[in-house]
Amino acid sequence: MNLHNKLPPIPFIDVDAQRRRLGPAIDSAIARVLNHCQFILGPEVKAFETELAAFCGAKHVVTCASGTDALALALRAMEIGPGDAVLCPSFTFCATAEVAALVGATPVFVDVDAVTFNIDAKSIAGAVATAKEAGLRPKAIIPVDLFGLPADHRPIAAAAQAEGLFVLDDAAQAFGATYNNRRLGTFGHATSTSLWPVKPLGCYGDGGAVMTDDDRMADVLRSLRVHGHGNDKYDNVRIGLASRLDTIQAAVLLEKLKIFPDEIDARNNVARRYGERLGDVVAVPTAPAGSISVWAQYTIRVAGGRRDQLAAILKADGIPTAIYYPIPLHRQQAYKHYPVGKNGVAVSERLASEVISLPMHAYLDVATQDRIIDATRRALRK
Ligand SMILES: Cc1ncc(COP(=O)(O)O)c(C=O)c1O
Repeated sequence: MNLHNKLPPIPFIDVDAQRRRLGPAIDSAIARVLNHCQFILGPEVKAFETELAAFCGAKHVVTCASGTDALALALRAMEIGPGDAVLCPSFTFCATAEVAALVGATPVFVDVDAVTFNIDAKSIAGAVATAKEAGLRPKAIIPVDLFGLPADHRPIAAAAQAEGLFVLDDAAQAFGATYNNRRLGTFGHATSTSLWPVKPLGCYGDGGAVMTDDDRMADVLRSLRVHGHGNDKYDNVRIGLASRLDTIQAAVLLEKLKIFPDEIDARNNVARRYGERLGDVVAVPTAPAGSISVWAQYTIRVAGGRRDQLAAILKADGIPTAIYYPIPLHRQQAYKHYPVGKNGVAVSERLASEVISLPMHAYLDVATQDRIIDATRRALRK
């Protein structure tokens, strides 16, 4: 008899655990909003933007309705549109490329590094050349800090500067992470993040934010998120959208931000134990020197077609896994007609067939970690 079948299933991400920790504080914060009734751009929104700016070191934080809107608003503020090329990785969530297409520009896919899963700065020049050959104006690059780990921002900035590109850092999965002793939010011309519930810093619905040190860009972003207003809301100076963070969500986030550093430490403790106890049997992720990941995902690589077997064995043991991402964007129906940079996307192809993510969150206790580790080791030996 397999005793492990008797254990209860493990959640992949345990949203309830944080809810139990913060319950009364968040209930009171929401009640305060229900009492003052300023549901749109109420005082908690401004307070959260101020706190978030202090947390990450950015001069301005402009919140909005989602991480996708944050990217789109930033591209709009950079005046990117038809005829422009926006470089982005193929191995990412679709929103990264989607926003380029949404503003009328053309995404051009760049390969990623096999160890960090993040954009390979050495491939940027080739993608710029590809864009120019296609008659496009290379205007921006969107590096993604995938699975919580910062992209290698120093060489990316150098390559972008050489080619005259805006850098829009897509930190949807990695807000709170550190690169060269600085928190994300301060690299490139702007940084976007998602505040979706299971992101490392998430609310109780949709939400997003853009961070920038550029005063003018911040003003334009504030205008764009409210229908392109000028001096007052009935003065329309540009085409915008309705994309605000709800006041209730800002109230939730103000409470969550207080425990965020503690949660980042907890996630790093889980990742360290996983790495110590799985590193001899499988390719485990590591953060390069100078970087601290927030471990939105803990993603291992299982080669040789054994990934499905691992997922099936863990599932039978009550341990969920997930595959981010099974199909790279350059092979998706909606994106396959867009150009791929000169250096190709071979690493993205390989990663899509090898990656598998284990349960990861700040409330994963040691006993549950051990259960996942032991089951993974047993499965990989089969
Ligand atoms: C890398 C990346 N960019 C952008 C987004 C979009 O964020 P949202 O779902 O808040 O629109 C996500 C969401 O998963 C993401 O992972």
